[in-house]
Amino acid sequence: MPGSVDVLRRKAILLLRREREVFELRQERRRTEVWLNAFQALSSNLSRAGKGSLLEQWVTAMVDELTFQVAAVHACDAATGKLLLRAGLAQRELAAEVVAPPGLFEKLEETPCGFFARRSSHPNHPLGEALGLGMFHWLLLAGPGTSLLLTAGFVSGTEEFRAVEAQDLPHFLQLGRHLGALLDNARLFAALDREKSELSASNRELRETQEKLVQSSQLLAEVSRRAGMADVATGVLHNVGNALNSINVSVEILAEKLSSLEVSGVRRVGALLAGRGQELQRFLAEDERGPKLGPYLEGLGGHLATERDGMRNEVQSLRRHVEHMKAIVGKQQSHATTFDVAQSCAVSELVEDALTLSEHSLNQLAIQIERDYADVPRVVTDRHKVLQILVNLLSNARQALSGTASDRRKLRLGVEPLAEGRIAIAVRDSGVGISAENRERLFRFGYTTRPDGHGFGLHTSAIAARELGGRLTAHSDGPGTGATFVLELPLELSPSGAGRSSAART
Ligand SMILES: Nc1ncnc2c1ncn2[C@@H]1O[C@H](COP(=O)(O)OP(=O)(O)OP(=O)(O)O)[C@@H](O)[C@H]1O
Ligand SMILES: [Mg+2]
Repeated sequence: MPGSVDVLRRKAILLLRREREVFELRQERRRTEVWLNAFQALSSNLSRAGKGSLLEQWVTAMVDELTFQVAAVHACDAATGKLLLRAGLAQRELAAEVVAPPGLFEKLEETPCGFFARRSSHPNHPLGEALGLGMFHWLLLAGPGTSLLLTAGFVSGTEEFRAVEAQDLPHFLQLGRHLGALLDNARLFAALDREKSELSASNRELRETQEKLVQSSQLLAEVSRRAGMADVATGVLHNVGNALNSINVSVEILAEKLSSLEVSGVRRVGALLAGRGQELQRFLAEDERGPKLGPYLEGLGGHLATERDGMRNEVQSLRRHVEHMKAIVGKQQSHATTFDVAQSCAVSELVEDALTLSEHSLNQLAIQIERDYADVPRVVTDRHKVLQILVNLLSNARQALSGTASDRRKLRLGVEPLAEGRIAIAVRDSGVGISAENRERLFRFGYTTRPDGHGFGLHTSAIAARELGGRLTAHSDGPGTGATFVLELPLELSPSGAGRSSAART
């Protein structure tokens, strides 16, 4: 029997041990669960919490959940050797600043894995002494700025009743590092927020700048539209002015012819014959003036017929000028809505038409005109625009020739084919010529060397040439050698060539 009692005792002891083990395991599990809860409490909705509130939550978790007596977070000021309290919870008030013993930080950095003191082997730890702690865990979190020192434990003198458990150490370290990661996150989020607000500020600035840019581009568009309109108006006025000059000459010629018309002779003959009645036959036969009357009337009729023909020519010329002027104005009126009217024209006829439009002013200076028209295909172009250009060139040539001796005033008009479906019309004069320096400026708006000039003619002509898909160039070997202006035109006026913009520059 004693053998079975032994067996029973052994079994009971085994059972007791097992129960104790189970109890300890349960205890450990409960403690682990408490750590886990603290861990979760710290993790939940903390990713964006401020640094201060994170530290507060950590010390609260240490004291409230894990029942440590003291929990604190100190910033380590290595330069002054001070520990500055950032967050703390204890049954007694914690000092805001503690002077750490010399070399403490180096020691902490050497062993950054935590520390706890056992009741049995209890040499006072220098950190514990500084903070007034008996048993405690600690962890140094090295940050980018200051390092943070985490401590949790019990005050000196309570070792009899309180113990820091060995199994808490890994959890403590884990939770401490987790706090470190959360602090890093908080820093990152703060930086992100800063960048976001900087970004939205610069976005706002960008939007404002963009708005200003849109406003100023609208302003610019308006200004250039007005400048363009002024340009167009100047061009129209200039071309109409050219036509008006010729009209003026025609009107003067007409007025001269009208005043020299022999109307008084007709009236005299009428008065002579009036009232003769039945005696008219006798007067014609017997009066000495009778036989002269026939030849006189014949001469008078001839004179009146010549004058009438001259006046008819002038009226025709007037009509042409008025028609050209109407076309210039009409074109500008329809400028905004229609493409320029392209029509097929014989190039030499275009040149002749331009000569006819300018004939009076050229005749006044007795200029010799030579023609050299090569056989070129017809061009499809805007006839009136070409005429405007040529009339401008002829008017300039006339002015250049007015400064040369009357026997040396020559104007040569040429037409020749060019490569790639283009032709050239050349207006060459033997006038005053152009210096190399001035040749550069010829096409500039407002450039003139004449006292009554405006500097519009060549500028508007060059733009018109461009709009026709061609170009206008000037050549001269220098002062006194005359000048040649060449208008190049494509055989076909493409819709894009018939550009409507008056803002083109040469
Ligand atoms: N055939 C030419 N020979 C020499 N100089 C010329 C000739 N054609 C033009 N120029 C020079 O170019 C300048 C500009 O000519 P442009 O036709 O643009 O203006 P303008 O004739 O002076 O005045 P307007 O605007 O009344 O025509 C002239 O003042 C003149 O100095
Ligand atoms: Mg001119």
